[in-house]
Amino acid sequence: MILIIDFGSQYNQLIARRIREARVYCQIEPPWVDWAYIRSLKPQGIILSGGPSSIYEKGSPQMDPAVFQLGIPILGICYGMQFMINALGGVVERADKREYGFADLYIKQEKGLFENLGGSTSCWMSHGDSIVKLPKGFVTTASTDNTPIAATANSDKQLYGLQFHPEVAHTPKGRRMLDNFLFKLCGCTPDWTMKSFARESIRQIQDAVGDKKIILGLSGGVDSSVTALLIHRAVGKNLTCIVVDNGLLRLNEARRLKTMFGRHLKINIRYVNAAGRFLTALSGIIDPEKKRKIIGKTFMEVFEAEAQKIKNAEFLAQGTLYPDVIESQSAFGGPTSVIKSHHNVGGLPKKMKFKLIEPLRFLFKDEVRKLGAELGLPKELIWRQPFPGPGLAIRIIGEITQKRLAILRKVDAILLEEIKTAGYYKKLWQSFAVLLPIKSVGVMGDRRTYENIAAIRAVTSKDAMTADWARLPHKLLNRISNRIINEVNGVNRVVYDISSKPPSTIEWE
Ligand code: XMP
Repeated sequence: MILIIDFGSQYNQLIARRIREARVYCQIEPPWVDWAYIRSLKPQGIILSGGPSSIYEKGSPQMDPAVFQLGIPILGICYGMQFMINALGGVVERADKREYGFADLYIKQEKGLFENLGGSTSCWMSHGDSIVKLPKGFVTTASTDNTPIAATANSDKQLYGLQFHPEVAHTPKGRRMLDNFLFKLCGCTPDWTMKSFARESIRQIQDAVGDKKIILGLSGGVDSSVTALLIHRAVGKNLTCIVVDNGLLRLNEARRLKTMFGRHLKINIRYVNAAGRFLTALSGIIDPEKKRKIIGKTFMEVFEAEAQKIKNAEFLAQGTLYPDVIESQSAFGGPTSVIKSHHNVGGLPKKMKFKLIEPLRFLFKDEVRKLGAELGLPKELIWRQPFPGPGLAIRIIGEITQKRLAILRKVDAILLEEIKTAGYYKKLWQSFAVLLPIKSVGVMGDRRTYENIAAIRAVTSKDAMTADWARLPHKLLNRISNRIINEVNGVNRVVYDISSKPPSTIEWE
């Protein structure tokens, strides 16, 4: 495995991605990571990431220079390289201006990181400070017009540095440089697959848990579903999944969950119908944040009460993913440190006395999907669009009633059916309906109607941080609108939401 030390770069996750794409396992850890832990990971190489600071800045991230005595290959990128050079006695010069963008890279030695590169290339620079003097034993291996020491190496000590970013697509031969580091210099083998990850995780879960019982809140989303399947493989009947039906789920959703996990996958399910309790708590509530708070609190109460009924449960499993782990451990701010607080509604009750297991905490979303496929999770679950914890409550603008829930469920089911039939489901980040708190006049047959308006929202996005409204074909929109108005009593108008995020959000509330 490769250890990546996080000096705060916005590209850290990209470095990790590049390494895993090469089928080598890697982990990102902060600079103060415990030495015993490093040793237990047995890394074959270390990458010191870039970062926004200058090494001369007060409070800039530092690592114990003993890292350079470990005797394994180390690659410093940008700040990581400057940190290494400074720590080993070289000189880094402070700059007032940043160099940012493409630069021609003149390679001096086609070996080490630059083996089989096929001559000079271009690279992506994003730095302020530069190296002006190398420590003993280091040579310059590449330069650019602005940066004489754009790459350096001390091959005896297996230390390498790049001033530019090999992990970004703008460095066309960056992939080959990283491959050289992984396979030629560190001697890694490209054998990290989801199969091996699954095998290893199952073993780790068994070691950690023994014959104790585990509980898991199952929502039917990809993350909790894959977590359930993985843990079930490890401990079988010692896993109990709690499905809380908050009455805010889509049409037939609770039943589908029970059948899929209970009957087909043979996982222990405890289904709690708490719809009445949620709806009573939500009655008369209009404010979106109040809705979220009530739903979060009620979920915890219901979950906790149910968990207590399971004798000898010592562990609580959660489907936390790597981006959240990195976000919460990233010490230096930066663009990745924004916490999406409202997305964590329904997190675990803090006072519950469980030991936590999070088997997906080192995986990215697409890796979780691959793992799901490896474990035999049905395709329809693997490719699910995200569905918010507060469910339909934040898609019924205004007060939530049984009647309005029933209307929205029907509208939503038609929309999803049409989107799927037209082959758009997987292309969209999310597609859903929203019920508006106003009525409009229409005419059906010869009769005047005065009914509800449904809004359709369909967006494309990579990570939900930004999103664009989907340019769905007019024919498809037409079919959706016709079917909704004809088939759902209580809706006589359909509108399409054409706002992007920002400035709008994906959900309406
Ligand atoms: P927004 O509406 O902020 O949503 O653009 C971004 C993504 O988060 C989902 N979302 C939520 N998920 N609890 C959740 O579990 C929530 O309260 C919540 N609010 C929004 C939303 O569906 C989208 O995928």
